[in-house]
Amino acid sequence: STLEMEVEQIRKGNFEHFMQKEIHEQPDSLTMTMRGRLIRGGEQKAKGILLGGLKDHLKTIRRSRRILCIGCGTSYNAALAARPVVEELSGIPVTMEIASDLLDRQGPIYREDAAIFVSQSGETADTLQALEYAESDGALCVGITNTVGSAIARGSHCGIHLNAGCEIGVASTKAYTSQIAVIVMLALALGDYSLSTQQRRNAIMDDLYNLPSKVRDVLKLDKDMKELAALLMDEQSLLVFGRGYNYATALECALKVKEVSLMHAEGIVAGEMKNGPLALVDETLLIIVIATRDASLNKQQWKARKGRLIVMCTEGDAEFMCPDRTCRIIEVPKVQDCLQPIINIVSLQLLAYHLTVFRGFNVDQPRNLAKSVTTQ
Ligand code: AGP
Repeated sequence: STLEMEVEQIRKGNFEHFMQKEIHEQPDSLTMTMRGRLIRGGEQKAKGILLGGLKDHLKTIRRSRRILCIGCGTSYNAALAARPVVEELSGIPVTMEIASDLLDRQGPIYREDAAIFVSQSGETADTLQALEYAESDGALCVGITNTVGSAIARGSHCGIHLNAGCEIGVASTKAYTSQIAVIVMLALALGDYSLSTQQRRNAIMDDLYNLPSKVRDVLKLDKDMKELAALLMDEQSLLVFGRGYNYATALECALKVKEVSLMHAEGIVAGEMKNGPLALVDETLLIIVIATRDASLNKQQWKARKGRLIVMCTEGDAEFMCPDRTCRIIEVPKVQDCLQPIINIVSLQLLAYHLTVFRGFNVDQPRNLAKSVTTQ
């Protein structure tokens, strides 16, 4: 009805679509996610992380033999993005599970495991069933959701609420960045007894504090991303490469492009290029390479490749990355490596959004998809 349409327009504020609104809300949603949890310290007080919903369980998680991260789609990708820093700061091996696949194989779970369930809606059927499965095997179950009172929030032993605010667009954007921020905070909390990692933890906390303003800087790329989308709108296919901290960025960029712009896109962990995907590369293939500065940068073997390259690099690196200026460059601000996935995905969310508008598809409700997948 027209009334419903008017109400919807009011909820979108000055934006055309919910996805667009939610992308631009990220400085605020991240602020909300960290509020009361990232303790700044100050005179004589140490910086720290306070996760109220976990306080009685942190010790148990620290003692666990393994951490399992379980989710679907974008929520899985968020856990994948934060996995390296959880392993680094906790010293506990982290294994990744797509909820449906864990259930299909009935993978073994033990009492000494801590299982983290990541879900924006808190209602995804596969994730919820995986939670029941892990619980029956005696694992400690931690829920990370954006929905108070959701099935996963109620069914887990403890958890962390995202506080990202209601997400309406089917394509998850602000929940993704808040999920990464929350899991990074969890990693910091798990490691906070260790003196040897204190400097590193402080550096991460400083950058968490500055993250909303850095995200605001990335959002200024909106016009560039729109221009890039106009150039790419008639493409058939897109490959996205990333490794290390940005393996997840590659998967998540491809998922966004697929689900809203309906263009074929594939995210590939760059180290696997040589084991097959390289055969696809010719002068016509469109490739995005995530090559922001971190320890894995010198292993990015893309310079000598053919293909039409779009390179995402750290601000100031354009010349070094592409001396012959044959590739298109997306320059982004630098933050601590484990937070870089949050910065990097924002520009790619904008790209997926503009591609979709140019291609004339439904941004907020892509065909065949639902916001929460409550069937298996
Ligand atoms: C995200 O853009 C997708 N629509 C989808 O992959 C989603 O992340 C997945 O279905 C999981 O949803 P959840 O976070 O609500 O569990």
